[in-house]
Amino acid sequence: MAMTGVLRPGHAQIRVMDLDEGVRHYRDIMGLEETGRDSHGRVYLKCRDEIDHHSVILRQADRAGLDFVGFKVLNKATLDTFEANLRDYGLLTERVPAGDLLETGERVRFETPSGHLIELYAEKTAVGNRCGVINPLPWSPDSIRGMAPLRLDHILLYGPNIAEVQKIFTKVLGFNLVERVLSPDGTQNMIIFMSCSIKSHDIAFADYPEPGKLHHCSFLMESWEDVLHAGDIMSMNKIPVDIGPTRHGVTRGCTIYAWDPSGNRFETFKEDRQPYPDHEPLTWTFDALGDGGGLDYVQRKLHESFLTIVT
Ligand SMILES: [Fe+2]
Repeated sequence: MAMTGVLRPGHAQIRVMDLDEGVRHYRDIMGLEETGRDSHGRVYLKCRDEIDHHSVILRQADRAGLDFVGFKVLNKATLDTFEANLRDYGLLTERVPAGDLLETGERVRFETPSGHLIELYAEKTAVGNRCGVINPLPWSPDSIRGMAPLRLDHILLYGPNIAEVQKIFTKVLGFNLVERVLSPDGTQNMIIFMSCSIKSHDIAFADYPEPGKLHHCSFLMESWEDVLHAGDIMSMNKIPVDIGPTRHGVTRGCTIYAWDPSGNRFETFKEDRQPYPDHEPLTWTFDALGDGGGLDYVQRKLHESFLTIVT
């Protein structure tokens, strides 16, 4: 497909309660590369196959969670168009100046009815993946460390009013609804998985009474074996695991959910489905999220933590 408007999730600013512990987790154990620190004390990291300067920003705070998610758009004209369209839709937008995040241009920020700050930006310095661009390496020996994820893949957020959020992402930002889980009474969507590409999801939202909550940031692994290898590293480092290794029925992704030292859930994930925009969205009933294997296809059970633990 020709990709034009929103390209991909480009960054997530995660709150950690101890910066050194957070850096040890994301850099030394997961294996992201530290690419900078700013005057506010924020630490910038990237995954090994990402081209742009950073995808994860850690900020020390007194509570865990997510400050914002940023999506990269095609160019500055596209950014201007989305800003106008968001305003026409009735949302307030704010321009965050270039340079507020290291190596990043102006960002257009808005708050979703679920209480999350979403940003769009067109410019971030490309630092490369150490493979080169002429006769490139398939992977760089210098960048394989720890769990060695390829990229920040997607984010699942919990909050209210997700029907409204779905409208903003699909009608204004051009995302497609790829899969959904129905509420227990079957009358509305409880979880929505949306894509701006042919990934099974670039962002997902689940209905939840408290606004602005983070369920997990997901990191793409190169293979199912790499998901299991990440599980070995979790065990060696006594990282608490939530669910897995298993496969989600929803999105078919292979997964382990675990928690960083501040209690933010993260996922090591292997994509296994590539929906095109003309494909009909897949629907899961609430019952099938549990005994139909929607959440855990191997065990076919609904883990309570999936619905209740967020930061
Ligand atoms: Fe996920």
